[in-house]
Amino acid sequence: MKKLLAVVALTTGILGAAPAQAAWPERPITMIVPFAAGGPTDVVARIVAENMSRTLGQQIVIENVSGAGGTTGITRAAQAAPDGYTICMGHMGTHGAAPAVYPDIKYDPTKDFAPIGLAAGTPIVIVARKDFPAKDLKAFVAAIKAGGEKMNEAHAGVGSVSFTTCSLFNSLSGAKPTRVVYRGTGPALNDLVGGQVDYMCDQIVNLVPQIQAGTIKAYAVGLPERSPALPDVPTTKEAGLPEFQVSAWNAIFAPKGTSPEIVKKLSDALLKALADTTTRKRILDLGGDLSNTAAQTPDGLQKLVVSEVARWNKVLKGATAGIPAAAPAAPAAPAK
Ligand code: MLT
Repeated sequence: MKKLLAVVALTTGILGAAPAQAAWPERPITMIVPFAAGGPTDVVARIVAENMSRTLGQQIVIENVSGAGGTTGITRAAQAAPDGYTICMGHMGTHGAAPAVYPDIKYDPTKDFAPIGLAAGTPIVIVARKDFPAKDLKAFVAAIKAGGEKMNEAHAGVGSVSFTTCSLFNSLSGAKPTRVVYRGTGPALNDLVGGQVDYMCDQIVNLVPQIQAGTIKAYAVGLPERSPALPDVPTTKEAGLPEFQVSAWNAIFAPKGTSPEIVKKLSDALLKALADTTTRKRILDLGGDLSNTAAQTPDGLQKLVVSEVARWNKVLKGATAGIPAAAPAAPAAPAK
């Protein structure tokens, strides 16, 4: 009889959720980062994953799966079993610009995920090798324009944040550099420090320590106000290129079909991480933006993704090689 009752309880769920789900997580969780280790997506992922691992009582293990501007790793995440053991860190490229530049993309950012929440906003900074002779942004624009294809610009693949935002920068400034592709802006930054490439447009969280150490040069940040993490770096408006106002974002997603209970546990763990003083400080010290609290929830993130796909589709659809000719209408508005 006891056995029969247990079977009935299991099959009908009258004792609550299925035991396997109630016990989740019973083993480590994989978080796919769709770019190389050491870059901005990886940095944000490792900071929040460390805190979330403590809350969940299981390690979140980062797996770097790079390629095709981040879409290779995100495709893998979208197609993973929706059991809570594979999640990913997506961003403005993989979940905003990608559908407009990859017609054969195998996932729909608006439909194929269970959004968990925004981890951080990441303003874009225009940076160059430390011995680049230009003293300010105006002189820098003149130099890269004059240098033509002798100038080397680093990016993380078509559709990535660095590619899309530097496409915009090149188009606004009239530069036509040689565009050098990397598996992420982590390795690209190494080459910028080494002087093998001339410049890039990258997310601030990848750059602050190098800018502070003087191993690379920052010309401007694409924000309306200066970043507290880089108070000496002018905004693009101050530096004479007001049209270049771009901030990216990084957010956690699970595959579509992940149970609401697991989504809630992941969301609660993320919100706890983003309320934690040490975790917040680590993100803020790197220039990350934690102000869009509305998008830190699953519903808020879904709204952000829908608006970002529409925004980038407008700018990129029909653009040559995924290169926007004009700035997107407005920076990603906080989803309310
Ligand atoms: C990008 O350009 O999309 C990112 O910088 C990629 C990365 O995290 O390396």
